[in-house]
Order: sequence, then structure tokens, then C-alpha cells
Amino acid sequence: MTRKIIFDTDPGQDDAIAILAALGSPELDILGIVAVAGNVPLHLAETNARRIVELAGRSDIPVHAGAERPFLRPLVTAEHVHGETGLDGPDLPPPSTPLQGGHGVDFIIDTVRAHEPKSVTIAALGPLTNVALALLKAPDIAERLQGIVLMGGAYFEVGNVTPTAEFNIYVDPEAAASVFASGVDLTVLPLDATHGMHSTLPRIEAFRALGTKSGAAVAAMLSFSQTYDLQKFGWDGAPLHDPCVTAYLVRPEIFEGRRVNIEVETGSALTRGMTVADYWGVTDRPKNAFFVRSGDADAFYALLTERVARLP
Ligand code: RIB
Ligand code: CA
Repeated sequence: MTRKIIFDTDPGQDDAIAILAALGSPELDILGIVAVAGNVPLHLAETNARRIVELAGRSDIPVHAGAERPFLRPLVTAEHVHGETGLDGPDLPPPSTPLQGGHGVDFIIDTVRAHEPKSVTIAALGPLTNVALALLKAPDIAERLQGIVLMGGAYFEVGNVTPTAEFNIYVDPEAAASVFASGVDLTVLPLDATHGMHSTLPRIEAFRALGTKSGAAVAAMLSFSQTYDLQKFGWDGAPLHDPCVTAYLVRPEIFEGRRVNIEVETGSALTRGMTVADYWGVTDRPKNAFFVRSGDADAFYALLTERVARLP
């Protein structure tokens, strides 16, 4: 039984690798991809999403554009991390597949309504603007969704864009707060999990050694991502974030965590976007999310490499 997935994403090299690995995973049925402004402005995010599906030979997968800015705040982007195109590293041609008409939020709503209840999962790899808008515009989909598996937040690992906030949550904290309060079953892959997934040189070489276009592109993306992150973290490899969502969807057993309450700070200028996880259960707040604390990095990279190997 395949799992039906809608990706909501702001590609971004790590988003791209998450989507490629998903396209190489027969367990997953990708119903569509919705772009959101985040790492780069929306027009680049949706263009990159189309480049990615074409690289995988899957231009049959519809790509829609969603929100071009957060609920309330000015858009914060991350070209310093992802490059001016948002997908620097590989030299992928401009897409020839057209962007789908209609708003991405309506695609999410219509797709969830068109499938059996509890059969569609949203895999959220960027700011949660589209997901929150879909839930606000069509509250009925909260009950129909199987769940939301998202990369975002941090607790013990603290922030990557401010001392307290992870980028996806920071860009649109109001949208994130709305999603975390929605009652939808949430699985959160925070920096606590993704910071353990270092793209070391042998792991990058394993993709290059595949000898395929997709393998070479992933190796080029990971190599590019070393630039900023290595000087920032000083580790043996840059952390790899969004593919943890794909890996969790396919092999959740390589991760561990617990159900906790997570709330999002939206009021403070100092800690805006902080995900406050009641990890030790010191409040009676509802346990609204499964917080993934760590994962098996070797198993993670082996899975990604094996799945990308199935692509052209
Ligand atoms: O903090 C990491 C997250 O922010 C990832 O999703 C990356 O693509 C950026 O969107
Ligand atoms: Ca992302």
C-alpha cells in the first residue's frame, strides 16, 4: 500500500534531495508539489521544483505555486545558504514543464478532499504558510489528512537562523503556530534530528559513484551546501535537513523520539519562531506532535543513496 504525499517545499538543495529520494521510493505516491517562498522567493522555488521533477524524469507530477510571502512578516530568504538560484551546485537546465494553473493552497485542499479520508500526508519542507492557509480556508481537511510530517523547529539543538529559532518556523511563526494548534497529527523532524546527519565526503562520493545524472546532481548539491555550513558549524559535513522527512516516511524506525507538546513563540522579538517543546512533560499542555530527537545517520544516508540510485 503506497502512502500518498503532497510535498510543500522551498527548494533549496536539501528540499531537492528529499523530493528525489521520494521519487525513488515505491512506498510513496507523490500526488503533487506545492512551492512556498522561503529559501528563495516563490518564482525561484517553483522553478526549482519543476527542475527537480524533470531531472528525475517525472514531469508528470504537477507543480503549483503557493504563497509568495508569510502571513504577517516580510519574507526572509537564505540565498547565502542556497545560492542566488536556490539550487546552486548542479547545472540543471531551466524547466520546460509548465507550472500548473491555480493556487497551490487550493491544490492541497482539492487533493485532500478528492482522496479517501486519512489517506493523504503533507510532507512540509519549508515555511508553513501554505499548509496553514489550506487549514484556515478548508478546516474540514484537518480531519481528512493522515498527518503532516515536517522539517522544522529545534529544542535541545537551539536555533540556526537566530539563537532560538530554526529557519522554516522563523520565516512564518504565525503560520507555524496555526499548524501546531490545528489538531492534525504532526511529526516534527527538528534540528535535533537533522544536525546528526552530516554530509561527509564519503557520503557525498557515494552519490557521485552512482554514475547517474541524479546521483551527480545530488553530489553537486551536497558539495555546494558544505560551503556555508562547514564554516558555521565546523563539523565533518554539513547537516542535511529535509531528506529526514522522506526517510521518516519510508523508514521511521531509523529515528527515535517522543510525543510532546510543542508551541511556537510569536510575540517576542528576541525568541520569535522558537519551538517550545515540553520534552519532560512539566505542563498539562496537549501532546500535539511526535518530536524526533535523533536518527541513525549511516542508515539514513544508505537509504537516500539507494533511493536516488533508482532515478535516471
Ligand atoms: O532550517 C533548515 C530548513 O530551512 C530546511 O528546510 C532548509 O531547506 C531551509 O528551508
Ligand atoms: Ca526547505
